[in-house]
Amino acid sequence: MAEKTFKYVILGGGVAGGYAAREFAKQGVKPGELAIISKEAVAPYERPALSKAYLFPEGTARLPGFHVCVGSGGERLLPEWYKEKGIELILNTEIVKADLASKTLVSAAGATFKYHILVIATGSTVLRLTDFGVQGADAKNIFYLREIDDADKLVEAIKAKKNGKAVVVGGGYIGLELSAALRINNFDVSMVYPEPWCMPRLFTAGIAAFYEGYYANKGIKIIKGTVAVGFTTDSNGEVKEVKLKDGRVIEADIVVVGVGGRPLTSLFKGQIEEEKGGIKTDAFFKTNVADVYAVGDVATFPMKLYNDIRRVEHVDHARKSAEQAVKAIKASQEGKTVDEYDYLPYFYSRSFDLSWQFYGDNVGETVLFGDNDPASSTHKFGSYWIKDGKVVGAFLESGTPEENKAIAKVARVQPPVENLDVLTKEGLAFASKI
Ligand code: FDA
Ligand code: NAD
Repeated sequence: MAEKTFKYVILGGGVAGGYAAREFAKQGVKPGELAIISKEAVAPYERPALSKAYLFPEGTARLPGFHVCVGSGGERLLPEWYKEKGIELILNTEIVKADLASKTLVSAAGATFKYHILVIATGSTVLRLTDFGVQGADAKNIFYLREIDDADKLVEAIKAKKNGKAVVVGGGYIGLELSAALRINNFDVSMVYPEPWCMPRLFTAGIAAFYEGYYANKGIKIIKGTVAVGFTTDSNGEVKEVKLKDGRVIEADIVVVGVGGRPLTSLFKGQIEEEKGGIKTDAFFKTNVADVYAVGDVATFPMKLYNDIRRVEHVDHARKSAEQAVKAIKASQEGKTVDEYDYLPYFYSRSFDLSWQFYGDNVGETVLFGDNDPASSTHKFGSYWIKDGKVVGAFLESGTPEENKAIAKVARVQPPVENLDVLTKEGLAFASKI
């Protein structure tokens, strides 16, 4: 089988892979020096579109419309762009073996790729209900969403089961975004999750109450405090009912599961230092193995602002970590250095006519401000997190670009607050004056 050698290989053609390629091009690579190897069939794209406009019945997003780097206002990198730059885009190619000692990657088809410098950008995969042994979880029309192939299967089912019943398992990002997308497609939607409120990893009870109320007003049924323990099927093997732990049974034409992800590090087990489920890096995304970098969802990196180390599974960090790693690679070749990564966590989501942003750390006491009535027309409200007398995190629904900038600044500056009641009353005005 063929063997190819590159100066740089990016393993993974997702968000971080695409942004790394752009940064390599900016910094200067010669034709033939760089390759991206991806299991997907298409050039890197902005993954967040898959759970939003990709599923809409109108104003639908399709490739090539959302290839990177449009998500951050940059030039769209079409397959031709890689050709022009002499960057080899090796698609439909899953790497099944990685030997970091001999700097060799082997694909499922048996092709061998050698590199001088490797950037690991393999991202995450979904947790499956079959992994937990849920009875009947391999039935037809039970969907997960990670890659464009998954989204295409879901789009087909949405068409085939028009105006049908959908059950969404999980109350996290996928659960909330997919419930909305299915409702917009006129499905009768029920959401099921074990926690007392949705998005418990980030939302406070007060924040969640707004979204649950808003979703209920849209006709989405929310079933909390229980999990799916089994599925029944019809004679075609298609899912028919979802059995819940509390004994209830709900009819379903399709089921979408979003119960979390897991970083794809298994290729490197035992060869590289790991921490918190990811590949441990320094502030330049360099791992403990010479010439190997890790970026995006797989990297566990120093979070300078909080003096700890973390993994982040969001698109802003995937973009920025990729750029940082490539800048560091190029600088080190010239005997130079770049500044340490100093990341301010930024997460966001959109559904229906809602759109929120969060910056900083969600630790400490919280205050809720603004109009959080799910039935109101403005629904502009937010929350601050306060630790050791300082505001360390800020959340805002329906903010203007200036207001979002203001809450980002608050989270970065961490201004002191003396009185939480005053902070609640001031609300957004507190951020706007920082
Ligand atoms: P990413 O998953 O993008 O890319 C990894 C790539 O590596 C894939 O192409 C994969 O096929 C490939 N790969 C893996 N193993 C391989 C192997 N062995 N051989 C070859 N190729 C391999 N975040 C956010 O902030 N706001 C949002 O709105 C959303 N929305 C959203 C929607 C959906 C549906 C998902 C799944 C995720 C989001 N996210 C998000 C999260 C965000 O998309 C995610 O954090 C980034 O895509 C991570 O970028 P990476 O490049 O690390 O992984
Ligand atoms: P998540 O971790 O956000 O949410 C998982 C949810 O499923 C949680 O509420 C969890 O408690 C619940 N759950 C766990 N086990 C369950 C069970 N047996 N039955 C029912 N519910 C159960 O993960 P996700 O929503 O699956 O998202 C996957 C990945 O995609 C994450 O990395 C996420 O960051 C990313 N993503 C991000 C965005 C965004 O940032 N806007 C959007 C979509 C996806």
